[in-house]
Amino acid sequence: MNSQIPISFRAFEHFPDFCFIITEDRVILEVNHTFSRYIGKTKEFLRNQVFDSLLHKAFVLKFEHKVNLCVETNAEQITECKLETNEDSPLEVCAYISLNQRPTKKAPWYSLLVILKDISQEKQREIDLLRFRFVAENTANPLQITDLNGKMIYVNPAFEKASGFAAKELIGQSPNIFGRKKHSKKFWDKMWLTISAGKVWIGEVENTKKTGEAFHTQLLVSPIINSENNIVGYFGLHRDLSERRNLEKQLIHTQKMESIGTLAAGVAHEVGNPLASISALVQIIQRRTKDEFIREKLELVKKQITRISKIIRDLVDFSRPSNYELKLTDINENVRESIEIVRVGTKAKDIEFILELDPNLAPTHLVADQIQQVFVNILINAVDALTEKRARTQVDDRAYIKATSTYNDDMFVVTFEDNGPGVKPENQVKIFEPFFTTKTEGKGTGLGLWVSYGIVKSFQGELKIESKYGQWTKFSVVLPVNPY
Ligand SMILES: Nc1ncnc2c1ncn2[C@@H]1O[C@H](COP(=O)(O)OP(=O)(O)O)[C@@H](O)[C@H]1O
Ligand SMILES: [Mg+2]
Repeated sequence: MNSQIPISFRAFEHFPDFCFIITEDRVILEVNHTFSRYIGKTKEFLRNQVFDSLLHKAFVLKFEHKVNLCVETNAEQITECKLETNEDSPLEVCAYISLNQRPTKKAPWYSLLVILKDISQEKQREIDLLRFRFVAENTANPLQITDLNGKMIYVNPAFEKASGFAAKELIGQSPNIFGRKKHSKKFWDKMWLTISAGKVWIGEVENTKKTGEAFHTQLLVSPIINSENNIVGYFGLHRDLSERRNLEKQLIHTQKMESIGTLAAGVAHEVGNPLASISALVQIIQRRTKDEFIREKLELVKKQITRISKIIRDLVDFSRPSNYELKLTDINENVRESIEIVRVGTKAKDIEFILELDPNLAPTHLVADQIQQVFVNILINAVDALTEKRARTQVDDRAYIKATSTYNDDMFVVTFEDNGPGVKPENQVKIFEPFFTTKTEGKGTGLGLWVSYGIVKSFQGELKIESKYGQWTKFSVVLPVNPY
């Protein structure tokens, strides 16, 4: 055996890594069985080969540099490089380079012990992990990873966004901070039973955001299983259902309005005719009788009948199919006219009307009378609200109603904003329902906005309210540019 090869090299024969003794000129003096088997060549063949020929071209210089460092400092050098042993895919290895024999005065040459550790799997795992991280960080779906005890160890940005918590507030916490109390203990027990048995669990859950708002998601929890088939953690993927919930709510709302409308129209029809007869009879009796008491009372009856008739007219208005003629309507002109109508009333005399109308609005096909009815209803409400606020608070800040119009690609938006008393949040959801009114009896029917809602919907538009209670209210009428 060559004197440069230590006896102990035999110990490396079946070492899991590839081991070499190489000379200064990087000629292979010895190589272990593991490498010879891996490459499929005998040790005899490999001996006296140049070690660099095993390296991928791009790593030869780097390797040389490390060898020099090792000799200069007599310290082990570690470097990653690739082996050119397989044409299709170079093998990624980590090289540990150390001096096997130091140069001395007598023998000024040296040899090196090189151990190559296959790190291709680690590298692949690293790449997989990076890929996974990229997907996790960029997906729109909230995602969380918990350890075996259900404590969160990772949440992605989408999760932070959906929950309103920052990642650092969540790590180490149990997902209970999302208010899991919304569901029964049995619900979660069942989930744990499923996932701890190594199976995937899917369910719809209601979580609570940091702000206290609810957010609904479909949750998929899957156990993370390692190579030894042990569960090492859990992976939770959420699909945001809020959008769907909102649509469902809207749909239910629309359906409710529709069915109320149909019902109301039927009732109105049934009541309308008898009411007309009562009204006629009252007038006849009033004319015939001389009794002052009866005349007076009949006058009151007439007033009530007028009131009922108005309600019925509104009900019929709502349900009447729009068989009016569509004509090219200048929406700005319509807004101006509506304001003129409302301004006539004495209540409106101290109110400032501000107009910010987009002059580029193109005329559109609408039933002008009906749209005007919507605008007037909203404006009268605003005037009422401002008057009511003034009477109640006696403060004399300038009351105003601001009307704006704008359009984008396919929608016109007309808004009416007032600095009146505002609408309580709990009333904002009810405001378009029939008979919802906060006005004293005789003053309001609670049908104005309901009728308006029906009209706007019949043009495939939308009527929306925004309000800050105590400060302002804004109604938006959104109409498609081409409704048909
Ligand atoms: N601009 C507004 N400011 C404050 N509250 C409003 C405003 N517009 C409407 N409301 C509220 O909505 C209710 C319903 O309006 P509406 O359907 O027109 O019925 P009515 O005017 O007959 O009460 C009103 O009673 C009022 O409480
Ligand atoms: Mg009204």
